[in-house]
Amino acid sequence: MSEPLAGRTAIVTGASRGIGLAAAAALHDAGANVVLTARTEEAARAAADSVGPRALGIGAHATDEDLARACVERTVEAFGSVDVLVNNAGTNPAYGPVLAQDHGRFAKTLDVNLWAPILWSRLVVDAWMGEHGGSIVNTASIGGLSVGPDLGIYHVSKAALIHLTKQLAIELAPSIRVNAVAPGVVRTKLAEALWKEHEGAVVERTPLARIGEPDDVGAAVLFLASSASSWITGETLVIDGGQMIGSGAAADALAARVEG
Ligand SMILES: NC(=O)c1ccc[n+]([C@@H]2O[C@H](COP(=O)([O-])OP(=O)(O)OC[C@H]3O[C@@H](n4cnc5c(N)ncnc54)[C@H](OP(=O)(O)O)[C@@H]3O)[C@@H](O)[C@H]2O)c1
Repeated sequence: MSEPLAGRTAIVTGASRGIGLAAAAALHDAGANVVLTARTEEAARAAADSVGPRALGIGAHATDEDLARACVERTVEAFGSVDVLVNNAGTNPAYGPVLAQDHGRFAKTLDVNLWAPILWSRLVVDAWMGEHGGSIVNTASIGGLSVGPDLGIYHVSKAALIHLTKQLAIELAPSIRVNAVAPGVVRTKLAEALWKEHEGAVVERTPLARIGEPDDVGAAVLFLASSASSWITGETLVIDGGQMIGSGAAADALAARVEG
């Protein structure tokens, strides 16, 4: 089996389930040592146990600077480096129209989805990548590339994360690459409201005729983390089964094909 990340170490935030867990598993399968975080040590450890022998689970709320620093320090102590950071932890407590949101929900969304990637990037750059290089991958969303009802504040946070990805790519070049993945609707707990009651309708709007699975995104994270993408930085890779191109004219053509 090819192990392009043998001897490398990755931290994946928000990895107790869903996309983060799949990304951690993909990185581990590629030979990396992997640190998985979640809000509780228990959840993080359980996820790490499910990933394999070179996985370590550490409890660290993504916005808690002391816990984040301790996590990065423990990673370097345990494995000797931090070559990959996947800023994956995300939240969406602000459902509904933007003008209906209060400052608390706005601040929580922006703190977890935007500030945490800045915080963790700084910590890994200071601890290792600044001297040795590395790759940072942010989990954005196709919601950051388009607009739609109900998830406005979340979309704003992901649009800002895509911009941040470009900004950090410039600031940290040439030794550190910074990219993002932008998933469409993926079968996870966070996105349940988008697919659980109406998976068929989502599939109908998806040219590749299924909703996403966490492993679809994990594979893209692995690509952006590894040297297979060594001349790519500042980019956002859409992984959505064609949902973005499927909106508008392409969706009409698809609907006609399905109906026909
Ligand atoms: N699923 C989709 O359709 C979709 C589409 C586009 C983008 N995304 C993005 O993908 C990322 C992962 O989401 P998911 O869909 O895989 O959701 P998920 O299955 O609900 O997983 C979320 C993960 O984040 C952890 N987490 C949540 N808040 C955290 C915090 N403050 N600090 C540390 N960890 C935290 C959770 O662990 P604990 O609960 O154990 O703490 C869990 O491991 C998010 O950034 C999300 O915005 C998802």
